[in-house]
Amino acid sequence: MVETPVPDARSLGQRARDHLWLHFAQHAAFADAEVPVIARGEGVHVYDERGRRYLDGLAGLFAVQVGHGREELARAAAEQTRTLAYFPLWGHAHPKAVELAERIAAKAPGDLDRVFFTGGGGEAVETAWKLAKQYFRRAGEPHRHKVVSRTLAYHGTSQGALSITGIPGARADFEPLVPSTVKVPNTDFYRPPVHGADPEAFGRWAADEIDRAIEREGPETVAAVFLEPLQNTGGCFPPPPGYWQRVREICDEHGVLLVSDEVICAFGRLGHDFGAHRYGYRPDIITAAKGLTSGYAPLGAMVASERLMRPFLAEGASFTHGSTYGGHPVSCAVAMANLDLMEAEGLNEHVLANEAGFRAVLDGLRDLPIVGDVRGAGFFYGIELVKDQATAEPFTAQDRERVLRGHVSPALFEAGLYCRADDRAEPVVQLAPPLIAEQRHFDEIGQILRAVLSEAWRVL
Ligand SMILES: Cc1ncc(COP(=O)(O)O)c(C=O)c1O
Repeated sequence: MVETPVPDARSLGQRARDHLWLHFAQHAAFADAEVPVIARGEGVHVYDERGRRYLDGLAGLFAVQVGHGREELARAAAEQTRTLAYFPLWGHAHPKAVELAERIAAKAPGDLDRVFFTGGGGEAVETAWKLAKQYFRRAGEPHRHKVVSRTLAYHGTSQGALSITGIPGARADFEPLVPSTVKVPNTDFYRPPVHGADPEAFGRWAADEIDRAIEREGPETVAAVFLEPLQNTGGCFPPPPGYWQRVREICDEHGVLLVSDEVICAFGRLGHDFGAHRYGYRPDIITAAKGLTSGYAPLGAMVASERLMRPFLAEGASFTHGSTYGGHPVSCAVAMANLDLMEAEGLNEHVLANEAGFRAVLDGLRDLPIVGDVRGAGFFYGIELVKDQATAEPFTAQDRERVLRGHVSPALFEAGLYCRADDRAEPVVQLAPPLIAEQRHFDEIGQILRAVLSEAWRVL
């Protein structure tokens, strides 16, 4: 006799504990608690499986630029699935990849005219490092293979991208990683090791640290410098004035490629197509992902200078790199529809016109004693939490556990705000809502933060 399966009466949040392995998550936290299950999204809001609404203060994971539930993107995915659901970019093209590559090349700065699609951001970073290495091999500088990147910067989790990543806790259990990566200081001007009163001098120093690192390693061995336009991890460290210009000079002096890792910063997050536009520099390679499809389908891109393609145009040469899903037709179709929407709705302009209003709300929290610093740009901010505003005394490990993980994170969610309380460096609350967010949403974010951070101070 065939037995009829008994339906599982438990909630999804309970069932999630049995088989689903969450990313970067402490599963012990769910021993006595359900896993939160987000089931639906609309505009700047997401809804859990019970129908409770949350303001999405992080655009999912810095991705959902046009907001949730956009019919236009669903339609583009469905149409492409019907027309050509899948074909690889291995020696063939498909129409949406051609159109999207043209469109990205037209938006990208300078001669960044060649677009290599990947499945996501970390893969784009891997691709850029591999291109840098193979390019120099082909260009007669075979010893250039090293990469310079910044402390705390996150560039992905595959072993190459993780080697470029500078978060000690993310790396420790995977050492030895890919050798030949070098770390330099980031641009944390809240805790500057030197030139605390002078952002320009600080920026010059931070850039010159890259110069010194290249000199130490031997310029003939260094392939590339990987930097985000505005560094995410640590809580949105903006570049000091003149920083990028000096970095460009240094890379030129040493013949090193400058890679702008724009996995977060591209496609409107800073109010421009690329972060390089906002800060006025010309990289040799851009890596991008997330906002390219507003997260509706996985896609990343490495956008390279035409010059870097040249050795691969020779008879018999090829960039020996690729993947099954890089440039997936459905993802490319979604990206085209997403860029259509972003342009039609003027989202870059919307960000530039409204960033001051967003920032003012967050700056308004500085009267709370737990708020040490507020920094960022566009729709991308971090609020650093401290024990003492006057001295910038940081949280201890126990404070982080008790206050950040134990209170701030769950309380924000409970209050209806999804965002990120991050302690991979000093504790920060990070905010990066969909780019369609308006002042009323910023005001709501501000109210929730004020209540939760005031209570956190009492807990501290
Ligand atoms: C700057 C940067 N680079 C790379 C990555 C990795 O992207 P993905 O998670 O799509 O692999 C991220 C992810 O957040 C990122 O912020």
